[in-house]
Amino acid sequence: MNQTDPAGELTREVLDRIEGAPDARLREVLQAAVRHLHGFAREVSLSPAEWLAGIRFLTAVGRMSDDQRQELILLSDTLGLSSLVETIAHPVDAATDATVLGPFYVPGAPWRAAGDSIAVADPGGSPCVVRGLVRGASGPLAGAVLDAWQCASNGLYDVQDPGQPPGNMRGRFRTGDDGSFVFRTSRPVSYPIPDDGPVGVLLRASGRHPWRAAHIHVIVSADGHEPVTTHLFDAASSYLDSDAVFGVRASLVKEFLAQPDGSTLVEHDFVLRAA
Ligand code: BEZ
Ligand code: FE
Repeated sequence: MNQTDPAGELTREVLDRIEGAPDARLREVLQAAVRHLHGFAREVSLSPAEWLAGIRFLTAVGRMSDDQRQELILLSDTLGLSSLVETIAHPVDAATDATVLGPFYVPGAPWRAAGDSIAVADPGGSPCVVRGLVRGASGPLAGAVLDAWQCASNGLYDVQDPGQPPGNMRGRFRTGDDGSFVFRTSRPVSYPIPDDGPVGVLLRASGRHPWRAAHIHVIVSADGHEPVTTHLFDAASSYLDSDAVFGVRASLVKEFLAQPDGSTLVEHDFVLRAA
């Protein structure tokens, strides 16, 4: 132990102890995590009582996480880490920007025909048409799949609301021969992320609100291409500048245009990268 820099010496010792990890990537990630965690504790002079409070908080986050409720992902989302990881994974190019998946995706949504509505039971919803193309580098992609989901106009997803039938506000659509898609839904609304757990406590302690800007989720996929997990945001929504999970990308904010029949229309082309 070096008496002139005991904290730095301790960090070195932990890093050395990991040096023998057989998996080089695991070694890199673990050593960086140790460096940053030790640096964080040093920067704020973390007290034992504060570290214990942190451990109690992380324990509560873990205890609240199960198949139905993933409080750990919510923590990552609200700290901007999920969004940062998406940004690191995807280069900035002509392809559609990716954003967070969120906890309410359910694989296996009902297949629906072009023009069908995903709003099977949303009496309070304001009708909305979503249409556009799915394109690759060399043009429109026939047979691409859009897997779309959103909350109902009460701000709840079907999986949160026993009043909605399973599969409500969800649907899978295939593009036609010209790469086009069209489906109907309700105009999305802003809604609060679940804030009745430790992440809600943290949000309030940080002086933050739990609201997400109004959005439709979509995963777009096509043979030979990288799938993209993304959103369409309503340009008229509140919270575009303070989305609780840092999911907003300027390229995904769209005008929902008023139509003569009282509905709204949003048009967007999704662009996929070759795999
Ligand atoms: C969502 O948009 O469904 C969502 C994303 C992150 C956290 C909570 C909800
Ligand atoms: Fe959502």
